[in-house]
Amino acid sequence: MTAQLIDGNALSKQLRSEVARRVQTLKQRGLTPGLAVILVGEDAASQVYVRNKVKACEEAGLNSVLERYGADLTEAQLLDRVRALNEDPGIHGILVQLPLPSQINSQKVIEAISPAKDVDGFHIASAGALMTGMPGFWPCTPHGCMKMLESIDYELRGKHAVVIGRSNIVGKPMALMLLQKDATVTICHSRTKDLKAHTRTADLIIAAVGRPRMLTADMVKPGTVVIDVGMNRDVDGRLCGDVDFAGVSQVASYITPVPGGVGPMTITMLLVNTLESAERSAV
Ligand code: GUN
Repeated sequence: MTAQLIDGNALSKQLRSEVARRVQTLKQRGLTPGLAVILVGEDAASQVYVRNKVKACEEAGLNSVLERYGADLTEAQLLDRVRALNEDPGIHGILVQLPLPSQINSQKVIEAISPAKDVDGFHIASAGALMTGMPGFWPCTPHGCMKMLESIDYELRGKHAVVIGRSNIVGKPMALMLLQKDATVTICHSRTKDLKAHTRTADLIIAAVGRPRMLTADMVKPGTVVIDVGMNRDVDGRLCGDVDFAGVSQVASYITPVPGGVGPMTITMLLVNTLESAERSAV
């Protein structure tokens, strides 16, 4: 392997200890940052994600409140809970775990969260703030990717960044963050013709498509920085990213592993957003 690893576990540890230190400072002023996590239904992956988020809060000294509801919860009931949490001074961040059962309109629920507590960064006000460069919460996964680039002192100005994936949660906000740092950004997606022609000219590739090992070494120029947002199971049931790690790590200059790359950074940025929400409420 020629590429250097960007270790999401190590970077998270460092950032979370900084969060813990700032939480202690707030606590000395009588304020404990609080995150409310709402889980509806029994989705297995969601249960794991939520458990990890609650555990990370506890470890960093934040207060987390987990609210679990059955899959038959109505949209009106969920909206009532969100509105109550908006008014709760002990709660600085509200996270409604997605996906929600089909009787509930997810976007409607997200828009009910106060933008001041939207630590997932999914509200249209948060998206608009990111787009226009105004203060607001950034979605945790692309924000975590930016922190990883920062950790290797990667200068984005003038670089060609190729984002593969156009989701509202990762691809689109990722492209805006890179643009804000003066990169030249190309967004590729499932309808892109000749993906390889784009990725071969990239200085930086962010793979966020959800297809096991789709980015192969022949698609990557030597020296490229590769960030793998994918979290897939391959045909053997093994966890893998969107990047063919074995091949791409032979040509890239830096690469993130799966697991232990972007995954822990997502939760870390959730802690950062919740802490910052509490800090804003204290001034
Ligand atoms: N489901 C999968 N990822 C996420 C996330 O980052 N936030 C929420 N709320 N739901 C998710």
